[in-house]
Amino acid sequence: MFRILLLFSLFLSTSHASDLCVADLKGIKNPAGYPCKSKVTVNDFVFSGFKAGNTSNVFKAALTPAFVDEFPGVNGLGFSAARLDLDVGGIIPMHSHPSGSELLIMVSGHITAGFIASDNSVFLKTLSKGDLMIFPQGLLHFQLNSGNRKATAFFTYSSTNPGAQLLDLALFGNNLDSILVQKSTFLDPAQVKKLKGAFGGSY
Ligand SMILES: *[C@@H]1O[C@H](CO)[C@@H](O)[C@H](O)[C@H]1NC(C)=O
Repeated sequence: MFRILLLFSLFLSTSHASDLCVADLKGIKNPAGYPCKSKVTVNDFVFSGFKAGNTSNVFKAALTPAFVDEFPGVNGLGFSAARLDLDVGGIIPMHSHPSGSELLIMVSGHITAGFIASDNSVFLKTLSKGDLMIFPQGLLHFQLNSGNRKATAFFTYSSTNPGAQLLDLALFGNNLDSILVQKSTFLDPAQVKKLKGAFGGSY
């Protein structure tokens, strides 16, 4: 009897269904995610962090991620989420996600959003409550609150860790020699100096 109890308690404490792989954030992250943690509860599959973000910043915007680092339950499942809050005039500037496509789900307000395809054609739309819009993987896109009140949206991504590269930061938030920035962007020295100043690059 004791042996059976012992076996039973071992089973309860150490094992879970083999199809569950909640991220062990203490493990080493690789492109496929994290190793699985051994003990799993329902709270690993629930994310309660989607409160209104703080939009007191130069972008008048707050993006609250629920990627694998914030929401370990998405580990290995190929999707994740985020919440977007935009004040009037707020913007998520031109950027791309190297590792996932994005689906925007409008909750309130009005957002003018667009992406630029690899042939430079522009796909632009002003969205309101209930609208969904897709931003395909790797393409440059932006979202602007074009309404007269706050706007809120949710995102899902086809990756647990979509990554993000902001165009202005990539171009001007770096320590690449300013001559090379001028040559590679066709901007004049004064513009490069101003933009490197604004985005924290060394001039
Ligand atoms: C929002 O961010 C600003 C700037 O960082 C800060 O001064 C302010 O206290 C923050 N507000 C809240 C409610 O956290």
